Amino acid sequence: MQVHEGKIVVVGTGGTIAGKAGSVEDNIGYVAGEVGIQELLGAVPSLQQAVRGPLQAEQLAQIDSKDMSFPVWSALAARCRQLAADPGVRAIVITHGTDTLEETAWFLHSVLDTHKPVVLTCAMRPSTALAPDGPQNLIDAMAVANAPGACGVLVVCAGAVHGARQVQKVHPYRLNAFGSGDSGPLGWVEEGRVRLAQNWHQPQAGWAVDAMKNIVQGDPWPRVEVVMSYAGASGSTVDALVRDGVQGLVVAATGNGTLHHALQAALERAQQAGLSVRVTTRCPLGQVLSLPWADAALPLVLGLTAVKARVSLLLELLGAKAPA
Ligand code: SIN
Repeated sequence: MQVHEGKIVVVGTGGTIAGKAGSVEDNIGYVAGEVGIQELLGAVPSLQQAVRGPLQAEQLAQIDSKDMSFPVWSALAARCRQLAADPGVRAIVITHGTDTLEETAWFLHSVLDTHKPVVLTCAMRPSTALAPDGPQNLIDAMAVANAPGACGVLVVCAGAVHGARQVQKVHPYRLNAFGSGDSGPLGWVEEGRVRLAQNWHQPQAGWAVDAMKNIVQGDPWPRVEVVMSYAGASGSTVDALVRDGVQGLVVAATGNGTLHHALQAALERAQQAGLSVRVTTRCPLGQVLSLPWADAALPLVLGLTAVKARVSLLLELLGAKAPA
């Protein structure tokens, strides 16, 4: 067994992986974010073997990720940036709730400029379950953190490894709750070994590192909301949000970026009033295909779900230059 010199730092943020229920049979009636990260790691006897070197644990937050907030994101990104710059750290593992994990993954992928692996992991069952999935996910996360060539922000759940751009929670209950859409996962962890289906995705050198500077100096986060187009949609939600002072809007459009005409009119009014509006599709697979000869009235976001397009717009409004 190869022993590595640098340490792996595990950063706890809460989630079901740290959840507690009243009985071992209860997989859904639990409170997320109850068990401290030291206790969580201490309950996995073979973890040290999987880490293959020094391990450090720290508690950054203890929340249900449905309540993820800008202050927690700011603190997490700042800590990851410090750890990534520390030559004594070889990888970062983050324990996180599954509900907004894909947003945090995309956020960190956008603001961090590191080639070290930053591996997010989670669980669908609380730590008190008869057969919790968290311990195996932690062991698998360590295997990914140690895998040759692993780099950038990755997600490990139920034996699959996903990239930050594609990963999406696709199931509210089953243990393999994440998918990577059309592209499929980057690979799998099998008995401690990573089998890749695709090359590791190289990080994009943190396209939003300049937004990170503003985050660290405590600039206020902008307000960006998501709306959706559907049968019978109207423009009244958009009009109300504009009156309420929202700065950006992402719309999950139908099909290939089409919008109910009433919603479209309201979004165009919002854009004319100075708001940043972005269009993505509500289809779970694929991406909007733009017509090369037609200028879209509202800018399209290609290949990102609405919640990730919102993260990108937040960062753009925080001063980052979006990639073309
Ligand atoms: C959460 O997202 O914190 C709760 C749900 C989960 O982790 O599965």
